[in-house]
Amino acid sequence: MRDVQRVIASAILLLFVIFPSAVRAAGDAAKGQQVFAKCAACHAKDSSNRLGPGLLGVVGRQAGAVQGFHYSRAMKGANKVWDEKSLDAFIAAPQTALPGTTMPFAGIADEQQRSNLIAYLETLK
Ligand code: HEC
Repeated sequence: MRDVQRVIASAILLLFVIFPSAVRAAGDAAKGQQVFAKCAACHAKDSSNRLGPGLLGVVGRQAGAVQGFHYSRAMKGANKVWDEKSLDAFIAAPQTALPGTTMPFAGIADEQQRSNLIAYLETLK
């Protein structure tokens, strides 16, 4: 009986070694939509610009690329593409990830909230 338990335990462990993403909780877009309330004062989920640029299609987009939006020099010269990794760093601490950004937002410390939020941003296309 103990052998069986040991085999099962190692099988589960092996799964986590092979699929580390299974350990990291995946983003939940429905929960992320609620987190987006923190952004909605400045960002539309379509392509209209408010205090911040519209976030339609933001995932996969070059930073600072929305026509007609007046970005900071930092954002214009950022030379990065918004993907899960760059968005996560930026949303966690905008001023640290992109010194000189004029996005007046302190950041979201909770990793799960950020992951949910990014899953939601991925639906904006
Ligand atoms: C108080 C207003 C405000 C809030 C709140 C805010 N932003 Fe912003 N956001 C801005 C501004 C202004 C910019 C442009 C910054 C620059 O040019 O440096 C920006 C830029 C961005 C960009 C870069 C877009 C591009 O086209 O390159 C992303 C991504 C972004 N914000 C995501 C978010 C998310 C996600 C949230 C919520 C967690 C959020 N922002 C909250 C004002 C805000």
